[in-house]
Amino acid sequence: MSSFRCRNRLIRLPVALSVRPDFLSQGLAPKVLPMTTMLSSDLPLPKIGRGKVRDIYAVDDDRLLLVTTDRISAFDVVMSETIPMKGAVLTQISAFWFNELEGVVPHHMISADTDEIIAAVPVLKPHRAEILGRAMLCRRTTVFPIECVIRGYLSGSAWKEYAASGTLAGEKLKAGLVESEKLEPSIFSPATKAETGHDENITIAKMREVVGDDTAYTLESMTRAIYTLGEELARKQGIIIADTKFEFGRDKDGRIILIDEVMTPDSSRFWAVDAYKPGQPQPSFDKQPLRDYLDVERRAGRWNGDAPPPPLPASVVDATSKRYLEAYRRVTGSALKI
Ligand SMILES: Nc1ncnc2c1ncn2[C@@H]1O[C@H](COP(=O)(O)OP(=O)(O)OP(=O)(O)O)[C@@H](O)[C@H]1O
Ligand SMILES: [Mg+2]
Repeated sequence: MSSFRCRNRLIRLPVALSVRPDFLSQGLAPKVLPMTTMLSSDLPLPKIGRGKVRDIYAVDDDRLLLVTTDRISAFDVVMSETIPMKGAVLTQISAFWFNELEGVVPHHMISADTDEIIAAVPVLKPHRAEILGRAMLCRRTTVFPIECVIRGYLSGSAWKEYAASGTLAGEKLKAGLVESEKLEPSIFSPATKAETGHDENITIAKMREVVGDDTAYTLESMTRAIYTLGEELARKQGIIIADTKFEFGRDKDGRIILIDEVMTPDSSRFWAVDAYKPGQPQPSFDKQPLRDYLDVERRAGRWNGDAPPPPLPASVVDATSKRYLEAYRRVTGSALKI
């Protein structure tokens, strides 16, 4: 354990070595090892899932603990290194949105405050440093197997489809749109939640078949309300949320509630307002240094695009960590304090 001072509180931090041995031997390790970083969590609760980025624990029949690690993926491959502070940034951006959405849609957040979580789940007390800032105590739901994707700007696969056929999710769009252009109105384009591999886009008719007409209507309405609020607020703060995806579940009282992470750089495309230029692809606010580095490695024939990924230099890890912290600062208007 080591420690550092944060807002006058002494915080003990586990030094989780997040770098691979070959990374160290190549002299690529950062001079100061990131102290707050976590590749994988190990908490005394039943672990019921592990996503590319998050570890999911059952607290009891009604509650879950979502722990966002500092793992990062790019081009669908999880990197071997961690990005210091990334987990806390993602959890606290979601918490910011859940608070903003109070009174707009019901949601699953019980608390993202570490001390409140420990008071509610005392078995976590010895693990305070591990979960600091990155854990969220949530209402447990039965998840709808639909990714509710909403696009406010024409980018990525949506741009590819439009450029090829003038459609988005099969619907004709007006002619003459350029890449990254703002879409008015935003387009709801649901996908199935695939257990493995890529999510598959589905029509709204198919979504109605899967969840029923009323639920499909509710999910689309909630998706539009959340994105409209978030896109407008973030844009004023200097971040364009070009597109994003939400998940919803049904709680034990039968209510449909917003779950998972919300309008984070991992569940959305974040662009910088000050660099926005329609008519071309936009750099990713958070992952561009990482993607650029991986592109160079791929073009040089040092990486084939699959796992295992190449080791990341400290400069890329550091630049990426700074991007995530800046995303938090812009969206919320203040620096991350945990
Ligand atoms: N309140 C909740 N009730 C039940 N399940 C939830 C709740 N909130 C989130 N989840 C589930 O927890 C999981 C979060 O894990 P995570 O996002 O890491 O993985 P993933 O979405 O399966 O994969 P990916 O790495 O592509 O994001 C998701 O499967 C999500 O559906
Ligand atoms: Mg997810």
